[in-house]
Amino acid sequence: DPDPLAVKIMDACLVLHAEHTINASTFAAMVCSSTLASPFLVVAAAIGTLAGPLHGGANQRVVEMLKEIERPENVDGWLKNQLSKKKVVWGMGHREYKTKDPRAIVLQKLMVEWAESKGNLSPQFETALRLEEACEAELGPKGVYPNVDYYSGILYTEMGIAPDQFTPIFAVSRVAGWLAHWREQLSDNRIFRPTQIYTG
Ligand code: COA
Repeated sequence: DPDPLAVKIMDACLVLHAEHTINASTFAAMVCSSTLASPFLVVAAAIGTLAGPLHGGANQRVVEMLKEIERPENVDGWLKNQLSKKKVVWGMGHREYKTKDPRAIVLQKLMVEWAESKGNLSPQFETALRLEEACEAELGPKGVYPNVDYYSGILYTEMGIAPDQFTPIFAVSRVAGWLAHWREQLSDNRIFRPTQIYTG
């Protein structure tokens, strides 16, 4: 039987990821819906869009990034180097949120609850906390704070889930939202056909 705390955390993760209004994958689902494609293909279009690291694929990148940083003491040097090369910090930033994503706040609390139940803070979590602190000084003025992907991958890792399952878990949950938008699109449908202004 699964650990009851792991069940509670997984439930919370599925609820937090289930729907989030318009975003890249939901928009892809709406465009696909507007062609009257089957709902299976609508979900397939959304999955393809979610998979990219600038969207749902970011949680896997966060864990890889924390592995690369290794220890909290390495955070400052790593961040300086990353930003000087104009590279992003995975799990940070959001088009709409210019403060910490409320979903990240819930996930962080769950991470603390998990750490307390195990009696230790994982090195990954410690590094993530230190990186968040360092980013606040560097990226806070730009409104860049942790998003939903920042803590989810760490939590899943702690619960023994392999990195290549992180984004699929996001997708399993988000199917609810995508299909709600599919129904809404069909209730008053007109095919999406954006106008392009050619300037070349
Ligand atoms: N790391 C470093 N700098 C970042 C950043 C990040 N994660 N996210 C945004 N910035 C910087 C941008 O480079 C830009 O800087 P500039 O004004 O000096 O050019 C500034 O912050 C504003 O960025 P913004 O226009 O708000 O970003 P966006 O809306 O175009 O992109 C994301 C949004 C999510 C794609 C972007 O924040 C990102 O790449 N994040 C990392 C990937 C990620 O975690 N994705 C999951 C999203 S839920």
